[in-house]
Amino acid sequence: MSGSHPRSIFITGAAAGIGRAVAERFAREGWLVGLYDVDEAAVQALSQQLGQQYGAGRVVAGRLDVADAEGWAQSLAAFAQVTGGCLDVLFNNAGVAVTAPFGEAPLARHHRLIDINLKGVVNGCHAALPYLKRTPQSRAINMCSASALYGQPMLSTYSATKAAVRSLTEALDIEWQAHGVRVLDVLPLFVNTAMVRDEVSKMKTVKTLGVRLTAEDVAGTVWQLARPLSARGLPVHSPVGLQTKLFYIAAKLTPDGLNRWITAKLGGH
Ligand SMILES: NC(=O)c1ccc[n+]([C@@H]2O[C@H](COP(=O)([O-])OP(=O)(O)OC[C@H]3O[C@@H](n4cnc5c(N)ncnc54)[C@H](O)[C@@H]3O)[C@@H](O)[C@H]2O)c1
Repeated sequence: MSGSHPRSIFITGAAAGIGRAVAERFAREGWLVGLYDVDEAAVQALSQQLGQQYGAGRVVAGRLDVADAEGWAQSLAAFAQVTGGCLDVLFNNAGVAVTAPFGEAPLARHHRLIDINLKGVVNGCHAALPYLKRTPQSRAINMCSASALYGQPMLSTYSATKAAVRSLTEALDIEWQAHGVRVLDVLPLFVNTAMVRDEVSKMKTVKTLGVRLTAEDVAGTVWQLARPLSARGLPVHSPVGLQTKLFYIAAKLTPDGLNRWITAKLGGH
């Protein structure tokens, strides 16, 4: 509990996939859940569903494009009215993928991807800091990806944004130690969501490695990172599932040349 309020989580990209699974998990655990997404109809429908299951006062929903810094300020202020000004967990989850040879995707798509996947996280961390600072044991949890371990062909700009999110997480986790705020990230390999089904599955690597994770698996990891009362000792990076853990360890132990070779072979290059 933060003061007299239940613990609270602000989730971006909450309408579908991993964000939705995290919303369902935290609502079930009795948290106050903020659902934000560009797909307002979907996030309102989810809010109604969770409200019926766990109590209407437990869920807040609204439209937020994470690329819009002003939108962030308004959405966080609205959520804080319900939480008593506190925020236990910021979950920077919203993200998009572009799966194509680099030169074949229009430059505007690369730019929009950076705006959402990287600037969206920067916007969120910046806007949420005052709320996190005033909440004991608070955390920012960022959706990273196994593609941050080595740049992925066909997913180049996406990998670059996730490597940047990983780096931002490391830096802020040290900087915000002074405020008592932990900053952590979650790195899954392929997860069975619309992002993989509609876009990322164009990569040969998906066929080679398979899709072994569910959105609920990722939600389980986010829950483990959010739950303990003491945030001390939590790892900065959390690979999800055995396959990702093996890749994570291998990427650390393997020389760059071999990492490059493995990445190329898995992608059919
Ligand atoms: N699916 C995977 O294999 C996988 C693996 C590693 C990391 N991730 C990361 O997990 C996160 C969630 O991915 P997912 O697989 O659940 O995707 P998804 O496509 O199933 O859901 C993404 C959600 O984000 C919302 N969204 C998109 N742009 C937005 C914006 N500008 N502002 C607010 N909301 C926006 C969408 O409307 C959607 O509801 C992303 O950051 C993604 O990069 C996914």
